[in-house]
Parts: sequence; structure tokens; C-alpha cells
Amino acid sequence: MSDLTYFDNAATSFPKPPQVGQAMAKFLAEDSANPGRAGHRMAVAAERMLDDSRLKLTRLFDAPDPHRMVFALNGTDALNIAIKGVITSHVNSNGHKPHVITTVLEHNSVSRPLVALEQAGAIELTRIDCDDQGLIDPDDIRKAVKPNTLLVALTHASNVLGTIQDAAAIGRITRELGVLFLLDAAQTAGCVPVSVKAMNIDLLAFPGHKSLLGPTGTGGLYVGQGVDKITPWREGGTGGDSSTPTQPTLYPYLLEGGTPNTVGIAGLSAGVDFVLTHGIDHALQHEQAMVAQILERFGGDDRFTFYGSRDPRKHVGTLSLNIEGYDAPDLGAILDDSFGIAVRPGLHCAPYIHKRIGTFPDGAVRISPGVFNTDEQLAHLCDALEQVAG
Ligand code: ALA
Repeated sequence: MSDLTYFDNAATSFPKPPQVGQAMAKFLAEDSANPGRAGHRMAVAAERMLDDSRLKLTRLFDAPDPHRMVFALNGTDALNIAIKGVITSHVNSNGHKPHVITTVLEHNSVSRPLVALEQAGAIELTRIDCDDQGLIDPDDIRKAVKPNTLLVALTHASNVLGTIQDAAAIGRITRELGVLFLLDAAQTAGCVPVSVKAMNIDLLAFPGHKSLLGPTGTGGLYVGQGVDKITPWREGGTGGDSSTPTQPTLYPYLLEGGTPNTVGIAGLSAGVDFVLTHGIDHALQHEQAMVAQILERFGGDDRFTFYGSRDPRKHVGTLSLNIEGYDAPDLGAILDDSFGIAVRPGLHCAPYIHKRIGTFPDGAVRISPGVFNTDEQLAHLCDALEQVAG
């Protein structure tokens, strides 16, 4: 697929830095025992690799305690651990129906568990609207908080519109009002600075395979000190203490039942090294510059409709559009078949925002540049868009 021009980095980043594959191959060949399950040197080396990776991620996200950095299988897994964990423990411990606030911008990985819990009668759910740029007004969150509000679940940047939310302002409000703040950093981890401390984040969920440049099958959840109870959604072996009849209460083992994806985490660790070496802003600046060029060339063209903010500085590298005369799925297929360009058309697992911007059910075409896209690739994309628009 080396001839494919890849602009689908919001789904997963491609290519990965060569160091990622090298680290995975090295770990697999040398140290891939089961961490924590035995005292032999290879198991200890595997455990050490996990600990190093936890520490790196904790530093990257400016979080206080590496033990509370829990590995997950992807962003969805991390979000499910967070959402089901705090809601179940709240319902079990005080019996009242909690209220949860979320937004129209959310991915199904947040929306579906919340709607399922609402339909099961376990929670009350409020969904906050965004403005035409795709921004949530923090004051709307404040106004929606009720005495029984337990949790605010918010995406840091929409995977459709790319707009980056003011997480710090929202975190100030949730902390002031004593509500838990879950930030879904699926589109920002690795390209937008995230500070658990400064943003008052209680639960930070992230995939390892997007801007952190790791392989698929990796992700994590940071659980802040403010989360006093979280019921494990997945239970099982953790190594260490096998004697307890239920999941150990110690972090990270409480939430890490089952053998972790050690090979993947070795790759993720190398991806995080790449991000730290090049600086957290490096990818964002590159991607925003590409978004800016697309908007400059086609932003005033009547054949094109762009959704969300026209200010690239408010975006991660994600831009959704439609071209007059084409359905989004057809446009995506033409870009692939005739030009060898990979984008993601459709609803992007985020139906509520497509309803909000008027593109439901066909959706839009999402272009998502990544840190390795070149100027030549961008020129090829722009020429293809021009030709298709006719
Ligand atoms: N969540 C990923 C996307 O937005 C898969 O495409």
C-alpha cells in the first residue's frame, strides 16, 4: 500500500515511526514473558517495560501517579472502564440514579455506553449542544449540573469537526461543583498538550494508535485521586496477589485484568518517545498548516461545503467537507479508486454531530493529515479535490 496517499490519521496514524516496529520486534524476541506472573528475569523485564511506559505516559499527561495509569486495549476500552466503572460503583454505593452530562460531539464510544445505561434506567443523561464552529460553551455545562450530577464526559476534539474544546475551563467548573470530569483524548493525545493537573481531569481516556503513534490494540486510562470508587468492568488474573477472591484494590491491577498487550505497549512506548523528542506541538503545527492550506484553496469555493470552524488554529488535523453533486461515500470511493487517496467518508461513529450539522445519514468526507504527510501528498489531494469538483 506504499502508493496510497494516506489522509485518515484520525482513524489511526500511518505510517508509524520505524522505531515503533523495531521496539515491538525487539521486545517480542527478547522479553515477551507475562509481566507480574512470575519472578523470573524475563517476566521482570516485561514488568519493567510496562512500568517505564506508565511513567512516560504519566509525564506526558502531567499526571501525579504512574500507578494510576491503566493500560487498555484502545480508547473505547478505556472509556468503557471509566464510564461503567464510576456509574456502577456510584449506583451500588448510594442507590440513587446519577445524572451524566455529555455533548453532541461525542463518538459512539462515549455515546453508546451512556445511552445504554440511560435505557436501562441506570442514569439520567443530558446532551449539550455545540455552536456552529463545534465548540461547547463551558457555561452550558455549568447550567446543566444538577444535585445528582456525577460525571461530565467530553471529547477534547471532535473526530468529525476537529474543534479543540476548552478542557481547562470545563475542568475548573467540574472541580468547583464536585463533579467528575472524563476527557476523551482520542484525537488529542500526542498532538495537543493535556495536563491532568492543570485541567482538573479526573479520568483521561486515550488510544495509543493515533497521535501517540503506537500500534492498534493499545490505549490507556488515567484515574485521578478524586475518583474514590471505580468498579472493574473486566475482572481476572493480574499476577502479583492471586489469593483475593475478587479483583485486588491496588492500582493499576484493579482495572487491568488479563494479560496486557505487552508487545503493543512496547511499540506505544517508542511512539511516545518520538512525540516527546519532537515536542508535543510538532504534529499539531504540521497538521494545522495542512488544514489551513485546504481551507485557503477551497474555503471560498461554492462547490465545497466545510463543517465547523474555519480557523485552523482551533483544529486538530481533521477537516470534514462535502462536494456539490456527490454523496460522501461516493466521494470517498472516487478518491480511493481514481486517485489512491485514503480518507474516511460517512458518519465517523459520531451520529449526533452529523445530525447537528445536517449531514445525517450520508455524512461527510473527513480528511485527516498526520505528522508524516508531505507537501507533495497535500498537493495531490488538492488536485484530486479540484478535478472531482469539476
Ligand atoms: N474513532 C476513529 C475515527 O474517528 C476510528 O475514525
